[in-house]
Order: sequence, then C-alpha cells, then structure tokens
Amino acid sequence: MPGRELSPSTIAVASGRPPREPGRPLNSPITMATALVPGGDAEYARFGNPTWDSFEQILGDLEGGRALAFSSGMAASTAVIDLVPLKGTVVAPRGAYAGTLDLLHDRARRGYFELVLIDVDNTPETVNAVEAADLAWIETPTNPALLVADLAAIGQAADRSGAAIAVDNTFATPLRQRPLNSGADFVVHSASKLLSGHSDVMLGAVVTKDKRAHDAIHRRRTMMGAVPGALETFLAARGMRTLHVRLDRAEANAKELHARLSRIRQVVYSRYPGFGTIIAFEVAGGPEAAEKITQLSEIIVHATSLGGVESTWERRRRHPAEPQAVPEGLIRLSVGIEDVDDLWLDIETCLAALT
Ligand SMILES: Cc1ncc(COP(=O)(O)O)c(C=O)c1O
Repeated sequence: MPGRELSPSTIAVASGRPPREPGRPLNSPITMATALVPGGDAEYARFGNPTWDSFEQILGDLEGGRALAFSSGMAASTAVIDLVPLKGTVVAPRGAYAGTLDLLHDRARRGYFELVLIDVDNTPETVNAVEAADLAWIETPTNPALLVADLAAIGQAADRSGAAIAVDNTFATPLRQRPLNSGADFVVHSASKLLSGHSDVMLGAVVTKDKRAHDAIHRRRTMMGAVPGALETFLAARGMRTLHVRLDRAEANAKELHARLSRIRQVVYSRYPGFGTIIAFEVAGGPEAAEKITQLSEIIVHATSLGGVESTWERRRRHPAEPQAVPEGLIRLSVGIEDVDDLWLDIETCLAALT
C-alpha cells in the first residue's frame, strides 16, 4: 500500500495469502508432501513447506522481521540457545517459564555455558548482567509472575557490549511489543498460545531481523528436525487472522477482572502488567484455598496452558517443576473472550466458597 504503513490489524488479516491469480485459493492450502518439485526454495519437507510460509509471513510482518516456524515453543527456544558459544555466558530471568529454565539449567550443568539468573524487572542488575553476557534471554512479561523488563535499556546495553538478545514475546504478542525495534536479535514465541488462540495447536517460532541470524536459525531447524506439521501452521495462520480482535477483547476482560479482584477482601493481591491477557493473584488461605477455587469454577476451565479463547486458571506450583521463586499459592488466570460479567460471577461464586 503506497505511502502508509499498514496497521497490525490489516497485516493480521491480509498478510501471507497466495498470489491473487485466477483460480488460486484465498487461503494457503494445507500441503501434505514430503518431497517438492526441485527448483523452488525447498525440495524436502524438513527444509520447508508452503503452508509454513503463510504462518511465517504473517508473524514476520507483525514482528517486523523474518519468522521461522518450529514444532513447539521449546523447539524454537532450543534453536536460539544452541547458538551460544561453548563456555559462553547466558543471562535469564529467575522467574522465566519453567520449561525454558529447565533447558538452560540442563545445558549449564553439562558445561555448555555459564547461566546467570537475574530479576528481570531490576533494570540496573539486568543491564550489568547483559553487558557481561553472550546471550541475554529475556522473557517479558514473565510466566507466571508477570515481571516486566525494560527492553530499551537492555537493547542499549547489548549495543555497547555486543551481547545477543532473545526475547520470549509469547505473553505480549507483536501487537503489544515488538522487541526487534528495541535491539533484540531473536524473538521467540510459543505459538501454541495467543497466536493460534484456540488451544488446539502445538507450535513455536523464531523471528529475526538480520539475514545471518535467520540463516543460523534455519540451519538449526533443519538439523534438529524440529519442524512443524502443515496442519498446525494452517491452524495457526487461521488463528492469527483474528489475533487483534481476540487480544483486544480478552485484554479488556483482563483489565476489568484485575480491577474487581483488587477490591476483594479474600484476594491478597492481584497483579496485571497493564496489557495482555494474564493475571496472577493469590487468595487468603494459601495454596489449599487456591487449589479449591480453581477446581470449583464452571466457566473458567481448570487447565494449564493459556492464551485460548476460553479462560483457564491453575495454581502454578501444582507442577513440581515450577521454580521455587513462584509463590505456592499463585493462581495464573488466562482470560478469554467470554462475557466479563459471566466470568466475574464464576470467580465470585468460587471465592464465596472460601468463607
Ligand atoms: C512464555 C512461554 N515460553 C515458551 C513456552 C514453551 O512453549 P511450548 O509449550 O509451545 O513448547 C511456554 C509454554 O507454556 C511459555 O509459556
């Protein structure tokens, strides 16, 4: 479109479609093939697939870079983390997603690199650590404590020192945060969450700005074989067509529920970073009370994962692998697109059972 940068809503709907030629489909079809006719970008399906291209184009356009799809968010994270030079230094948030921390600790224990954990919302501590690192792994907001990092300050620190920056953008999505604009080299997604949005897809992605970084991640994906299925990328592309609408609605619901929770006597605190669809809160009565209410709800689903159209909640420490830094009683509420008063009635009814 001449003279004007398209808005994210338009990109989400219009990007990644097949060429407008007579008889061509509007949507990128699901290509089920292990081999492709030679002469194109990929001859073998571990190297590429036309259905992946559509998802990658939409996400890349939204983030302002080039995206590569992976079989899961963890596969995407692994591809980035495996680029750290042997015996290098990796900085990561103490409260990052448990699976990512598990991977980082595993690599550190095997002697691949030194791992330095930081409180990512403590900017001076984070900046100091970034300046001495080969890779700064930043998750913001963190899962589940919702700590927010100062991406601009981290970007400037990395500029001075030459550290690479990877940002897990799963919670914010490119509609609320575009880390490549703040100096990030890699943006990582669990596309299983808000991007797909319907709790039916396992998928990850890495987005890069620089060709060398793109080529390095592409090579790792091919080597690891951590490739997505055609159906998963089709569903994720379809889900992303409505990302802006789902996010706006779920975010409005989350803001309202956080405000109401903050006024309730049985709620010790409710934390919400001001954007996104996730709330973290604790209730009086500790972990037992948290377990009780999360199992009583009739609309909110007691389930792990997040970012779907349906609201879900759980006490995170019910998972033995969850970091000790996460309070025992913390409930992570992923707010969906239901009617906010129906959600509130569900929460109020559960809280009433505590008294
Ligand atoms: C913030 C964050 N990053 C990464 C992951 C891993 O993604 P996946 O489960 O798609 O492998 C998750 C999963 O919950 C997550 O919440």
